[in-house]
Amino acid sequence: MRVLITGGSGFVGQRLCRRLKEAGHRLLVVSREPEQVRDRLPEGSDIRRSVLDFVDTPPDAIVNLAGESIAARRWSDDQKKRLIDSRVNITGDLVMLCEQLQASQGRMPRLMVSASAMGYYGDQGDREVTEQTPPHDEFAHRLCKRWEDTAREAADFGVRVALLRIGLVLDAGGGSLQKMLPPFKLGLGGRFGDGKQFMPWIHREDLVGAILFLLERDDLEGPFNASAPHPVTNAEFTRTLAKQLGRPALMPVPAIALETAFGEMSRLLLTGADMRPTRLLEAGFEFRFPTLEKALSDILG
Ligand SMILES: NC(=O)c1ccc[n+]([C@@H]2O[C@H](COP(=O)([O-])OP(=O)(O)OC[C@H]3O[C@@H](n4cnc5c(N)ncnc54)[C@H](OP(=O)(O)O)[C@@H]3O)[C@@H](O)[C@H]2O)c1
Repeated sequence: MRVLITGGSGFVGQRLCRRLKEAGHRLLVVSREPEQVRDRLPEGSDIRRSVLDFVDTPPDAIVNLAGESIAARRWSDDQKKRLIDSRVNITGDLVMLCEQLQASQGRMPRLMVSASAMGYYGDQGDREVTEQTPPHDEFAHRLCKRWEDTAREAADFGVRVALLRIGLVLDAGGGSLQKMLPPFKLGLGGRFGDGKQFMPWIHREDLVGAILFLLERDDLEGPFNASAPHPVTNAEFTRTLAKQLGRPALMPVPAIALETAFGEMSRLLLTGADMRPTRLLEAGFEFRFPTLEKALSDILG
């Protein structure tokens, strides 16, 4: 199968590309810097600067992962625009690619798996959250909704669209865990605020597994919560990580300090949702790392 991947050079994309290549698929990757990312991608990857550069090489499936990191910098109005544009514009290009392929009666992609995030639901307190739960209106929700709504437009061209509302992706060598490890290794880790906010998480291997699962299952579409079946609160996450590292975690960070340092972006650390992967489990997806203990012992062990 020819698979077109945006964000293939990223933390999730690199692992996905490796697994797709191992499974014998051909990789078409969109990157803003094709030459700079070449050595992060499997040999033979066809890397081009824009989605629409692939109109002469129609993919059988699309995986859409591109986007400016949500925690790159404080959420000023300009930064909010950058977070939205970096996702919605490239997603719109994918829809345009489908439109152009249909117009030229070319081969059509069967499926688009498009990333979204747990932020879709906004702050949900301690309510259990499935794909049916109404969202709380705030910036993260509005960002994810525009991203998802744009991706859904591909369905107008007969493409099956699956949306992955992704939790915190854990693995070595990148993502949030890499930023958390230094203070925890020094015994300076601690919960954020009162620690009661939920932190849905997923091992990177399971996220890639879920994408491959959706690529193969012709009967699945719509939103899927992509997080492990056993989410934890921030306090539990802190305790489990400290225990794995054999260090104390006695340095709670007061909410006010995070609010002062990060402004509105502190909501990423101080609010959350008890998100459950209801639809993936119903579809028969099996998590290799269902509990945080298992995931962290794999990653840190
Ligand atoms: N990692 C997580 O914990 C997590 C949690 C929830 C949701 N997600 C979502 O899942 C997707 C993949 O996550 P990830 O951790 O692999 O992401 P990542 O490593 O931060 O980046 C993905 C790719 O997006 C492209 N990109 C970055 N900034 C961009 C910009 N300003 N404009 C256009 N493209 C840009 C880059 O590709 P090039 O430089 O090659 O163009 C980058 O390699 C993202 O959309 C993310 O929002 C991730």
